Amino acid sequence: MKLKRIGILTGGGDCPGLNAVIRSIAKPAMNYYSATVIGVLDGYEGMVEGRHRELTPMDVLGIINQGGTILGTSNKGDPFHFPMGERNNIRIVDASQQVIDHYRDMKLDVLVTIGGDGTQIIAHKLSQMGLNVIGIPKTIDNDLDSTDLTFGHDSARAVATEAIDRLQTTASAHHRIMVVETMGRYAGWLALGAGLAGGADIILIPEIPFSWEKIFDTVLKRSKGAKFSIVCVAEGAKPQGGDVSVREMDKKRTDPVRLGGIGELIAKRIEDETGLETRVTVLGHTQRGGSPSAFDRILATRFGTVALEAMARGEFGVMASLQNQYVVTVPLADAVGRQRLVPRDSQLVFAARAVGTCFGD
Ligand code: F6P
Repeated sequence: MKLKRIGILTGGGDCPGLNAVIRSIAKPAMNYYSATVIGVLDGYEGMVEGRHRELTPMDVLGIINQGGTILGTSNKGDPFHFPMGERNNIRIVDASQQVIDHYRDMKLDVLVTIGGDGTQIIAHKLSQMGLNVIGIPKTIDNDLDSTDLTFGHDSARAVATEAIDRLQTTASAHHRIMVVETMGRYAGWLALGAGLAGGADIILIPEIPFSWEKIFDTVLKRSKGAKFSIVCVAEGAKPQGGDVSVREMDKKRTDPVRLGGIGELIAKRIEDETGLETRVTVLGHTQRGGSPSAFDRILATRFGTVALEAMARGEFGVMASLQNQYVVTVPLADAVGRQRLVPRDSQLVFAARAVGTCFGD
């Protein structure tokens, strides 16, 4: 198929590696296919509102190592759940027809949607409405089914690991308990990976609800030996029989829940119940910022290259996916709507338990 006009958007929360994907599509598209590349601004919001600009070779020069996204992004622009109006007067409308109209106005041959599950669910719906779309899976949470990995996760895990390393030296110096809360939504990959790499003494993830008593016992025992403990907790972790901690509800988003607060709760309860001095660090958006790791730059570039090859042979309604070390395409229909959670018998959990890590169960 003759590729003449390629649209690209980045949707949902940003993560390191977005610019590497944009570059990996735009450079060959311009150089080898002589195609025009249109950057849609601020994710689907830009698609609904018709905000976009043509990318030039200069736009994609020297951006492989840059975090964020040169196109901007938004997690409030779902065209099928589009918020209109101001603060206290928000109406949710279906703005999908505007997306179709703008796709036609821009004369696109294909729209590349770089994003997590929410972005790809929308891409799938647009594909069912007749648009040519190709998805590329990103998220620091690594919770997309049908890809072994998303780009962005490795970089975020490295940030969280470094934070744990730093917390360990100060914890040891003061004989304190340090609670560190990672992101990850309902999946524990980030806390598990960083906790394992950083040698956390307790790792709490959503997939393994914890017992308060187990946490108290573990830190009390350690206070008599090592004299400090690191507790790495995923924002979606919850006690047995309890529920997740919610920071805020934002009805502008398709999923209104903003998680947060479990780290503070755990730190307070440890101090109250054991008398051990405890501090909490919430890593928050530091995990999403900064330069992508070498691994993420490479994975992002491989995803973009395979997506471009797919669109050049007229394959649409698919998502790039890493399967057993190899990047392939999978139908969007199979890729969306299912979260990839940590299996309780994951080798990562097994390895952490083997070195004495407590999961609070
Ligand atoms: O999905 C990525 C993510 O960073 C989650 O880990 C986190 O819960 C959420 O986005 C935070 O979203 P926001 O940027 O809207 O605070």
